[in-house]
Amino acid sequence: MEKYKPVMSFDEDAAEVYDDGAQRGDEMATVAFLEQLARGGPTLELAIGTGRIALPLTARGIRVDGIDFSSAMVAKLRAKPGGAQIAVTMGDFAVVAVPGTYRLIYVVFNTLFNLLTQDEQVRCFENVADHLTDDGSFVVEAFVPAFLHRLRNDQYVDAEAIRVDEVRLDVLRHDMATQMIEESHVSLSPQECA
Ligand SMILES: C[S@@+](CC[C@H](N)C(=O)[O-])C[C@H]1O[C@@H](n2cnc3c(N)ncnc32)[C@H](O)[C@@H]1O
Repeated sequence: MEKYKPVMSFDEDAAEVYDDGAQRGDEMATVAFLEQLARGGPTLELAIGTGRIALPLTARGIRVDGIDFSSAMVAKLRAKPGGAQIAVTMGDFAVVAVPGTYRLIYVVFNTLFNLLTQDEQVRCFENVADHLTDDGSFVVEAFVPAFLHRLRNDQYVDAEAIRVDEVRLDVLRHDMATQMIEESHVSLSPQECA
């Protein structure tokens, strides 16, 4: 298999369907929490994607800038109302420099885990520290790996969606020694099989 790089997960095909599955129902609570910490802003979203959180936060009058390395995801953001006004720096959020400082920097939806090594994660925290105001906050939203008890032979297959015309499977393998997971979302439908 070709060596995996996180950017491969966010190509044009992925960006095309991202918004169909990304709404989790906790967006408004997340935005309210971030707005409170932002104290008027400005804020920076690491891995801004298609603007799931940035756009509603902007709608509350908070300036949100973003970083992302996927031009396909950012094109989706740009196509939405208000999306073209958001300043996005293209690059790796672990290292890319942005102008200015922020009262709030945040990374949500487990995206810190797209930095696959401890070194990259440390560089990210250093980068954030360089761009926070003295009283600023850094918010990381990430899952606690609760899947461990579901593993058999260090892997599982989970039915994410079962519909008449499509089945979506979550396929995961865990390497305890490296603390890495490999995970794929597989969609099966009559059209794709034809
Ligand atoms: C799961 S999406 C989350 C998007 C958005 N934050 C949200 O909550 O919907 C992950 C995003 O992170 C971006 N991304 C992943 N790793 C990155 C990196 N190292 N540097 C910049 N962007 C990255 C991807 O391009 C994608 O847009």
